[in-house]
Amino acid sequence: MVKLRVNGQEQSFDGDPSMPLLWYLRDELGLTGTKYGCGVALCGACTVHVDGAATRACITAVNDVSGRSVTTIEGLDPQGNHPVQKAWRAFNVPQCGYCQAGQIMQAAALLATSKNPSEDDISSAMSGNICRCGCYQRITAAIKAAATGA
Ligand code: FES
Ligand code: FES
Repeated sequence: MVKLRVNGQEQSFDGDPSMPLLWYLRDELGLTGTKYGCGVALCGACTVHVDGAATRACITAVNDVSGRSVTTIEGLDPQGNHPVQKAWRAFNVPQCGYCQAGQIMQAAALLATSKNPSEDDISSAMSGNICRCGCYQRITAAIKAAATGA
């Protein structure tokens, strides 16, 4: 039995502990905001927070997060008003939207530890999050705005 906390709620799972966290979140808990892109930690679409750190849910087993706290895009802010989400709306960041939950979770984890990141910091932190639509300039601008409260 794996016990963990997801978006503030205690959960227990008695299925295969090697199941990818991404499948557990989507198929067992119905939290479908977190997306499957590559399945091998190369795109960032599946990014969630584990104890606050950006984590690729596609290569993380449920057992790896036993006793830990997982946050998905659904739990980032109850009203969808995390500073990163507000900036995303202000800058009209998404195009097709597929990568965006992962982008937002990665950016939120960056700003939790780096209050005023440089362009290099942003570029480095976001380099593993791929956007097929090429929204990179708006992503960077929104992160800067979220950092400064602009
Ligand atoms: S689906 Fe996890 S990094 Fe691409
Ligand atoms: S908005 Fe389409 S993949 Fe990023």
